[in-house]
Amino acid sequence: MKDIAVRQVTMSSGFRPWLIAGYDEARAALADQRFGKDSHRVAELLDQHSLHGSDSLFGQFLSHHMLNTDPPEHGRLRKLVNKAFTPRTVARLRPRIEEICDELLDAMAGRSYVDLMAAFAVPLPVKVICELLGVPHEDRALFGSWSNTLVSALPREVVNDASTRMSDYLRGLVKAKEDSPGDDILSALVHAREAGDQLTVDELVSMAFLLLAAGHETTMNLIGNGVLALLTHPHQLAVLRADPTAVPGAIEEFLRYDGPVNQATLRFTREPVEIGGVSIPEGEFVMINIDSANHDAGQFPEAEVLDIGRETGGHLAFGHGIHYCLGAPLARLEGQIAFTKLLERYERIDLALPVEQLEWRFSVVMRGLERLPVRLGP
Ligand code: HEM
Repeated sequence: MKDIAVRQVTMSSGFRPWLIAGYDEARAALADQRFGKDSHRVAELLDQHSLHGSDSLFGQFLSHHMLNTDPPEHGRLRKLVNKAFTPRTVARLRPRIEEICDELLDAMAGRSYVDLMAAFAVPLPVKVICELLGVPHEDRALFGSWSNTLVSALPREVVNDASTRMSDYLRGLVKAKEDSPGDDILSALVHAREAGDQLTVDELVSMAFLLLAAGHETTMNLIGNGVLALLTHPHQLAVLRADPTAVPGAIEEFLRYDGPVNQATLRFTREPVEIGGVSIPEGEFVMINIDSANHDAGQFPEAEVLDIGRETGGHLAFGHGIHYCLGAPLARLEGQIAFTKLLERYERIDLALPVEQLEWRFSVVMRGLERLPVRLGP
């Protein structure tokens, strides 16, 4: 029986969002400007219905960034950032990402029992973002600790305190890059101009924050969820070990099979919309479920099966349309290096807990593990 692709659902709080779950419908909705972002209303609704997870940050501190804006403002911000976030910027990071992975793996040396989230998946993306933004070496420990707090399940006051400190810090960093630019994306953003337009200081701080917020928890979940997928599918792990050139394809399958932005990306209908044979009135809250779209058997045959060799073209893990993930090339590169290095370093990696005892983080938007305890062998 075919699943229902679009329907209104009722939550225990009485909240009645529309859920878009089919592949064709989700892809169409992501590309359809009638489904807008309205960050203030999204934040309000999440708050009203106690739905906030670590994603609550998006509504509170990030009013000026492109993930939360609609055209024409979105296009203006994205154009300016595209000028700084080029394929060259990403390619230049490769040797540093390799070094960072090596350092993290070296720090695990001699330990046979490790939480791979804390030791590897969580620190890797934040260290890469420090490189990207040009955070001075002496500030990186502090920066990393705030960022870890931002993606943690700690009480909201603690998370908010870290995000205030982080935005104060970023404001200072923007000022420093204005005075003495470095070879980093924040300096490039400070000086990026497009048709006489430039980002304001508030926009720069929001943009830096967005790169951190959008690039940290997602990439760490790609690594965590991907490692878990391999450890629970030993045959796929063996296939990957036998052919390291299969890593890029495997990353795409991890993104499809158990992607980091799983549960929903949020939109509002700016006008009435007919989709999947269903009419959604204007001003309704819509959750586009990337996870179920990526598991739609109409698009991906035997969608429930992990197959690192499958055709994954068109998966929606990085979104689609104008908000398509700006960091996708960087996330792919980080994932490819991380999996290659991890598998090279350890011939044996086994889950140290039964799968059903693993804890997942609470969030409406993200899907990822709290901890990934493993036993390692050379
Ligand atoms: C947007 C996923 C890593 C920066 C998005 C969207 C998704 C996504 C689904 C669209 C959201 C929507 O339509 O509402 C992911 C995944 C990642 C990842 C799965 C890792 C595996 C990164 C990284 C960066 C980044 C590393 C940058 C350092 C952004 C930005 C946007 C975005 C700036 C907003 C683009 C716009 O609104 O035009 N990402 N992301 N992401 N992502 Fe990523």
